[in-house]
Amino acid sequence: MAANWKMNTLPGGAGALVEEYGDEMLCGNPELVVCPPFTHLAALGLTLGAAGCLGAQNCSEHLSGAFTSEISAAMLRDLGCRYVILGHSECRLRNPMESLRIPEKIAQALAHGLTPIYCCGEDLPIRQSGAELDFIARQLADDLPPELKLNSHKLVIAYEPVWAIGTGKHASPEMAQQMHVFIRSRLKDMMGIEAERTRILYGGSVQADNAAGFASQTDIDGVLVGGASLKPADFRAIFGAFAAKGQ
Ligand code: PGA
Repeated sequence: MAANWKMNTLPGGAGALVEEYGDEMLCGNPELVVCPPFTHLAALGLTLGAAGCLGAQNCSEHLSGAFTSEISAAMLRDLGCRYVILGHSECRLRNPMESLRIPEKIAQALAHGLTPIYCCGEDLPIRQSGAELDFIARQLADDLPPELKLNSHKLVIAYEPVWAIGTGKHASPEMAQQMHVFIRSRLKDMMGIEAERTRILYGGSVQADNAAGFASQTDIDGVLVGGASLKPADFRAIFGAFAAKGQ
């Protein structure tokens, strides 16, 4: 389970929000990853970082150097991160060049011991035209670098249909399951047997009242949660749905 706080909360309030999640979530099963804004990472390094469940929301495709405003994978690892979200549609939409950088960003993350939480997903016109499988196949082929073949067990994929993010219009569990099966089959073609072990998360308007439906699907291994991760009671309920799946 991953929490994407996006550009919400202040650094001073981060610890309190995590405390409201409760110990059960921090040491529990399913595994939890919290991805706060960059400015919160240092403050959360001692708690979430030490527990191996701290993640960032992006990283640079470069190792280091004259890249004003960028944050490298090595910096994130030094602050205690173990994960980094890459290819989120909000980054892709804001920056038309973002998609071209994904393979190098994934390679940087892997080289510095970070597990990429790689996001893919189609927008509404593509879904309405029935071309979503072709689109996702192309996105996977374009974005996943050759290094992954050796490290595929370290990849987490998040299927996030763009039309479902922050809109309250989530994909149906069956729709998401169908896409997850498709993604797994593409990964198998690209990387071989490791694809069985790759965790594939669903993201897009996951809420306390729809999480159980997603958890009931065999190929939905977890969820990437935005808005509801800022509401501890809702997030605990979502966590509970996936904890029950693991039993
Ligand atoms: P949402 O965001 O849960 O608020 O729809 C999910 C995401 O963008 O990762």
